[in-house]
Amino acid sequence: MSSRVVALPGDGIGPEVVEAGLEVLRESAKKYALDIEIEQYAIGGRGIEEYGDPLPPAVLEACRKSRAVLLGSVGDARYDSNPHHLRPERALLQLRKELGLFANLRPIKCHEALTFASPLKPEIVKGVDILIVRELIGGIYFGEPRGLETRSQGRVGFNSEVYYDFEIQRIARVAFEASRSRGRRVTSVDKSNVLESSQLWRSVVSEAANEYADVSLSHILVDNCAMQLIARPRQFDVLLCTNMFGDILSDEAAMLTGSIGMLPSASVGGETALYEPVHGTAPDIAGKGKANPLATIASVALLFRHSFQREDIARRIETAVEMTLNQGVRTADIALPSDQVVGTRGMLDSVLENLSLIR
Ligand code: IPM
Ligand code: MG
Repeated sequence: MSSRVVALPGDGIGPEVVEAGLEVLRESAKKYALDIEIEQYAIGGRGIEEYGDPLPPAVLEACRKSRAVLLGSVGDARYDSNPHHLRPERALLQLRKELGLFANLRPIKCHEALTFASPLKPEIVKGVDILIVRELIGGIYFGEPRGLETRSQGRVGFNSEVYYDFEIQRIARVAFEASRSRGRRVTSVDKSNVLESSQLWRSVVSEAANEYADVSLSHILVDNCAMQLIARPRQFDVLLCTNMFGDILSDEAAMLTGSIGMLPSASVGGETALYEPVHGTAPDIAGKGKANPLATIASVALLFRHSFQREDIARRIETAVEMTLNQGVRTADIALPSDQVVGTRGMLDSVLENLSLIR
């Protein structure tokens, strides 16, 4: 099996945080004498700039041949009026689809030291530990028909939420399996009071649950779920979501941890897995060395855990992050007004320093 990792920094703060993630990756590889080859390519807005294509075929091919992909973020307002296939976001969507990454795992864990960084009250967010399992290559993101047209009544834009039973089954299984190493509770999110696709979702998830008698399943409507995430987030263990509901709820849930700058993610299902921070390009701070690299560093931990089966390396990185937070090191996004703030480099240096203290 290849031990190549492809790094796709992308746009905005992507390059800064990916560089920080790669430093942690190289440090870990060196420490454990792993021969990991790293290749880097431009995608998204930078792909459009360099090759006139958000995801050039050669880059996709390199990803296919690698064991794992570490991605920063994609998006650039300069291309907002480009046609769908020439938008930076297309790179990420196509990559997920082409690599068969149907399951997106987004752990939402509130670090003890950051309970005061959330806009919510500490007593609400303390101890939150949720795993969002988001379907990633189906639903309204990919459903046909879709388009922008002019008809006799006027201009029209349309998309379709489409789910086949096998797509629901396989993502439900990922959620049930994942819950077994956690609290064994799955909450499936839908809008079955309005949408047929959600009616099918609910019934297929319920059928799939029969194979997991040790896991308890409940269903919740997405609007209620959005409210419950703020009101009583600790009630949730695993949240099973469609592509779009998972996109929206994971940004909302991110704020329970203090900042979206804290959240890693893993996209799995094919031979190559993809790891990326949940945050976007943050154009307001891009290139300024201010971005929080912890979500990408935590994504590197997931990369070692899931793609290299190295729980020990993943734990070591997560411990170093925990130590750094306990020492009060803060980038602006997780700082209180009284805190001293460091930039990307400062945060990375603290993590590296703590890594050097572990074993
Ligand atoms: C995410 C992002 C992407 C998505 C965008 C950049 C296409 O918001 O990963 O959550 O909607 O899936
Ligand atoms: Mg999103």
